[in-house]
Amino acid sequence: MNNKICIIGLGYVGLPLAHAFSEKYEVVGFDINKPRIDELNSGFDRTLELTENQVKESLKNGMKFTLNVEDIKDCNIYIVTVPTPIDDNNEPDLTPIVKSTETIAKILKKDDIVIYESTVYPGVTEEVCVPILEEFSGLKFNETFFCGYSPERINPGDKEHTVTKILKITSGSTPEIAKKVDNLYKSIITAGTHLAPTIKVAEAAKVIENTQRDVNIALINELAMIFDLMNINTHDVIEAAGTKWNFIKLTPGLVGGHCIGVDPYYLTHKAQSLGYMPNLILGARQINNGMSKLIADKAIKKMVKFDKKLKNANILLLGVTFKENCPDMRNSKVMDIIKELNEYECNVEVYDYWVDRSDKETKHLNFIDELPLNSKKYDSIIVAVGHDKFKEITTDDYKNMSNGEPIIIDVKGIVEKPTWRL
Ligand SMILES: NC(=O)c1ccc[n+]([C@@H]2O[C@H](COP(=O)([O-])OP(=O)(O)OC[C@H]3O[C@@H](n4cnc5c(N)ncnc54)[C@H](O)[C@@H]3O)[C@@H](O)[C@H]2O)c1
Repeated sequence: MNNKICIIGLGYVGLPLAHAFSEKYEVVGFDINKPRIDELNSGFDRTLELTENQVKESLKNGMKFTLNVEDIKDCNIYIVTVPTPIDDNNEPDLTPIVKSTETIAKILKKDDIVIYESTVYPGVTEEVCVPILEEFSGLKFNETFFCGYSPERINPGDKEHTVTKILKITSGSTPEIAKKVDNLYKSIITAGTHLAPTIKVAEAAKVIENTQRDVNIALINELAMIFDLMNINTHDVIEAAGTKWNFIKLTPGLVGGHCIGVDPYYLTHKAQSLGYMPNLILGARQINNGMSKLIADKAIKKMVKFDKKLKNANILLLGVTFKENCPDMRNSKVMDIIKELNEYECNVEVYDYWVDRSDKETKHLNFIDELPLNSKKYDSIIVAVGHDKFKEITTDDYKNMSNGEPIIIDVKGIVEKPTWRL
């Protein structure tokens, strides 16, 4: 039977995947967000993962972007790429996974395959989603419908490691379905696939990739705090230690975004539900979440040191996205720096040429349109994100933007002569 693929959730992950599949298969992209569907139908992708040409190419290949469940009824493969956020208590919020699974369950037919790509803790596919699929469809798991799990590894803003160029883990609910899922991805992923033995193994593999990175960054952040007390430059230490073949060369910094700062909580939730307290993983989360306060405190202390008044001090923040060279604001820890500085009643202005100002997350921020060269206005400048353009700012530029003694706080190690560097 020919595959007709439905991608559920057309965000950073779903849209590039839909585009890749559309080159070989009939594809329908489904999302519940009307403005998103409208913009995609006009050829625009606000995540900037696809160019206008690529979106239009997908449409030309016959791809349909839709809000309408009727349009996805005749698909036989459903791939779920909806968000998996955490709530205010750092607990997994499975609402989008549950809701999208209900949508599929109501139209599920005999022999259909439902593949999850969203990052989850081991067990979500088979213990949370499968019962919903069975209940609403009346079909029987591994008899009349099947599942797969294939986690996504893309990196927003990275134009080199795009979806088809990253090796993909695949899995299926029976050996035959696993092969089928693997072959489906193999047909578009030029980097190849790794077929995991079970769905739970594939789920666990994804969540530990990001947990390992989070813990390793936390170690470097902790070392940076220790070296700061010793007046040793952390970047120089990392450069030196990095000459050993097995030293993992990471730099200190903020850990925000939709993945690394979130996914470990999925694993810790599951571990705790089984009676295990994951102290190392939670400790790492605590260290990484504390970096914003440390950076704001440094700016404040330097202003005090140079006799600058704190109330109404003008502070320029360069960059608010969660990482360099992309417009993604989700869970950006730069927001916590702003919150901290606002408590001192500082006047924080933000310059970020990547950000869409109509975004609800950015509406309350005090943006400036251009880099305020020669403004002589700022009591402190915090370089929070390593966007390419910020690397071109010279020592003289910083001096000419500063009111009196320049105080430049360099979070990313890209300023030639910072007052303080993380
Ligand atoms: N962004 C990344 O770099 C990245 C990388 C690897 C894995 N992931 C994982 O992939 C998943 C998706 O992430 P993303 O960054 O693409 O999210 P996103 O927020 O960019 O996009 C998700 C889309 O799903 C839609 N959606 C929400 N509920 C829906 C529903 N019930 N039915 C249909 N559509 C629905 C939203 O409207 C949105 O357009 C998450 O689990 C994330 O952890 C993300």
